[in-house]
Amino acid sequence: MTDQLTPRPEHKFTFGLWTVGNTGRDPFGHEVRPALDPVESVHRLAELGAYGVNFHDDDLVPFDSTPTEREAIVKRFRTALDETGMKVPMATTNLFSRPVFKEGAFTANDPNVRRFAVRKTFDAIDLGAELGAEVYVMWGGREGLEAEAAKDVRHALDRYKEAVDLCCEYIRERGYNLRIALEPKPNEPRGDMFLPTVGHALAFINELQWPEMVGLNPEFAHETMSGLSFTQAVAQTMWHGKLFHIDLNAQRIGKFDQDFRFGSEGIRDAFYLVRLLEDSGWDGMRHFDAHPYRTENAAGVWDFALGCMRTYLILKEKAERMRTDPEIQEALRVAKVDQLATPTGPMAAVRAAELDEAALAEQGYGLERLDQLVTELLLGVR
Ligand code: GCO
Ligand code: MN
Ligand code: MN
Repeated sequence: MTDQLTPRPEHKFTFGLWTVGNTGRDPFGHEVRPALDPVESVHRLAELGAYGVNFHDDDLVPFDSTPTEREAIVKRFRTALDETGMKVPMATTNLFSRPVFKEGAFTANDPNVRRFAVRKTFDAIDLGAELGAEVYVMWGGREGLEAEAAKDVRHALDRYKEAVDLCCEYIRERGYNLRIALEPKPNEPRGDMFLPTVGHALAFINELQWPEMVGLNPEFAHETMSGLSFTQAVAQTMWHGKLFHIDLNAQRIGKFDQDFRFGSEGIRDAFYLVRLLEDSGWDGMRHFDAHPYRTENAAGVWDFALGCMRTYLILKEKAERMRTDPEIQEALRVAKVDQLATPTGPMAAVRAAELDEAALAEQGYGLERLDQLVTELLLGVR
């Protein structure tokens, strides 16, 4: 049991350098923890059993670095990866911190701001590819608006598409083995953001030049902020063959972007998500895009990281038990869950079926019992 809850590299847990490295700055208060050296993060996370780390360009190589400085930083970081066996499965670009992006990056009104953003992304793609990343995440932190008069959303979407197409073109030119994963978010830091939900982003992909190169990086907190079911969003993303990466954390509906430790809120939602990932055989990363409470010092950071992974493993174990629990399995049969896999057609079957509406309406599905059994499993009394 204890061993089953010990994170190991084969569980494919990854953390962003910006997650454990979060210094606790918020709109009301200053940093409460010193910046972490990325090399230390690699070592500490490896000791805890993680598989890898991900980064924004600026998390690893500070923005103003010279080419010589870049080389030294990458070399030192690569040594840490080699020493620990840690991988870099995903890379991304910071297109939100610098003042130049205050009006947008890929969707800024000024074409030169857009060119600057696309070039910064090309550099980040090079850096990611150099360190072995196979997924490039695109989160448009400043793509959005507050003053509606100042942005034509249809043109903004043209420019968003153009930027994604340019990045795909760049990846193809370079021959990188890299796919792009768009990350939807409804708001924060912008009042309203473009590609606010998984559904918007899935539809957007259809308009791209190389749609097969682009999928999604859905985030638990982001769909939850909109009051939507994250598990349902992930299931539909999978159904379209578009789950390229995933951001795990915790969030209460209707609050600011909390980015809490995985499972610390909405444990039931977290359970169904883990069950979906495990039962579907998801072979990608279990990436945590969360940060420690602002109350924590350095020790709390590592409690936070371990907590994310342990909760995932506990819920994974619960999902396994759900699969083998005879009473739950029987309740699932009563609910006819398996019959949803049976096709409705063909047309002849639809026409020929003898249907007794009253009898169909009469039947119960036993969902109170089923749901209570799962609740009891989660609460540890089964
Ligand atoms: C957020 C986002 C970011 C992105 C990251 C990767 O709400 O701040 O979730 O953490 O995931 O920038 O592109
Ligand atoms: Mn987020
Ligand atoms: Mn995220």
